Amino acid sequence: MGKSVFPENFLWGGATSANQCEGAWDEDGKGMSVADCSTYKKHVNVADYKGQHSITSQDIEEAMESKDVHKYGKRHGIDFYHRYKEDLDLFQEMGFKTLRVSIPWTRIYPTGMETEPNEAGLRHYEELFTEMKKRGIEPLVTLHHYEMPLYLCNHYDGWYRREVISLFLKFCQTVFKRYKGLVTYWLTFNEIDSVFRHPFTTIGLVEDRYPADKWEEIIYQSVHNQFVASAMATKLLHEIIPGAQMGCMITRTLTYPENCHPKNMLQALKENRKNYFYSDVQVRGEYPKHIKCEWERKGIHVEFGPEDEKMLKAYPVDFVSFSYYMSRVTSFDTANKEMVSGNLTSGIKNPYLETTEWNWQVDPTGLCISLIELYDRYQKPVFVVENGLGSRDRVEEDGSIQDDYRIQYFREHIQAIADAIAEGVDVMGYTPWGCIDMVSMSTCQMSKRYGFIYVDVDDEGNGSYERKRKKSFYWYKKVIASNGADLD
Ligand code: BG6
Repeated sequence: MGKSVFPENFLWGGATSANQCEGAWDEDGKGMSVADCSTYKKHVNVADYKGQHSITSQDIEEAMESKDVHKYGKRHGIDFYHRYKEDLDLFQEMGFKTLRVSIPWTRIYPTGMETEPNEAGLRHYEELFTEMKKRGIEPLVTLHHYEMPLYLCNHYDGWYRREVISLFLKFCQTVFKRYKGLVTYWLTFNEIDSVFRHPFTTIGLVEDRYPADKWEEIIYQSVHNQFVASAMATKLLHEIIPGAQMGCMITRTLTYPENCHPKNMLQALKENRKNYFYSDVQVRGEYPKHIKCEWERKGIHVEFGPEDEKMLKAYPVDFVSFSYYMSRVTSFDTANKEMVSGNLTSGIKNPYLETTEWNWQVDPTGLCISLIELYDRYQKPVFVVENGLGSRDRVEEDGSIQDDYRIQYFREHIQAIADAIAEGVDVMGYTPWGCIDMVSMSTCQMSKRYGFIYVDVDDEGNGSYERKRKKSFYWYKKVIASNGADLD
């Protein structure tokens, strides 16, 4: 075993989102969120993300009428809402220093419109964070993880209407005040760059409600409103909890050129730049010029409030966080080429990489590249807040789960982080996604498992909900105990 390159205070842990693990979708005064409308589609091709993510006004009407928790998989989750103490014990046993969770807006303000917060919701997270602290686990809290109140989608056009900014800030202010002393690390918008990939989930927009020729403009306006909300939330956080830190969160969709053809190089550069747009605004505090050029070319008009540019500049985030699952390949000429899709983006198949059953191209080196690039670009601490392998696990007759494939995946990705640290990158921590199995965001499947901990639930929400330690559980525990030195 070599010497650890990870800093002493490195935040090892895991990541979750409330809507995928809590269940209890209509308990203790919680309102309906966009997540409560996503359905488990049994016969769908799991690699066809477009088919799975399209949502219509009719689908929403049906979801609002229905109490079904089997079809709407995120409604059952893994019952973390009631079992969190047992789960925290397991995370503590693995040696977690941090746990990423989210607070659904709808548990605190069920429709987003109330003037008084829901005390039951506030109390729940106070207890959760207190229990985490007791176990030496630092909360890392996402404020907006695909959980916006459905009421605001139906009555305020999601994030398109500017009024939503102040409704969101009311929620932020409430939770900052209440959890002062309990929570230091916060994230604004999960995968903010996903606005074009799944607008309903990210910004509450339903495509059939808007004129097709205005759709792109509407999305840009909505994400602009989120940028402003991010800046204002950062300002509020620093005022209410001095010393607390806010991070932005993007999906790092690292794009390689198919080869060194200059046209491919240029195309890859443009696609990467497009992905960086979202962190550029939140970290540098201003729009990159290429986006404004694009708007001009396309005749897109985004309404800025008189103070918006000043706010963006004055209140950038403190650190840069991102999810990383895969890389993609682009070419200016895609005719007759094999395509793969993963994490809702598609590209050409990379002949050097393996793909998962869900078509995600596994690329640990890409994580090292992403860390170096992000750090070089912004010179702010970076945090890998999601990374992991979705796969089917088998429970053996003796009850064990021999997930060596997951261990191999994490070994290579943690090594990639170590390599980036050796290159001088300031990495704050690592929170693998779905550290405990939970309902998949894109497919609502339970059988797409990411966890170190197995949860006995099937795709329709049936099962004992019993937790079991997988082989990777013991391996990750050893990794944390050695501060990343022992990856064997
Ligand atoms: C990220 C999301 O895109 O990927 C998570 O932030 C999600 O919410 C994760 O669960 C993995 O995706 P999936 O679709 O396999 O659950």
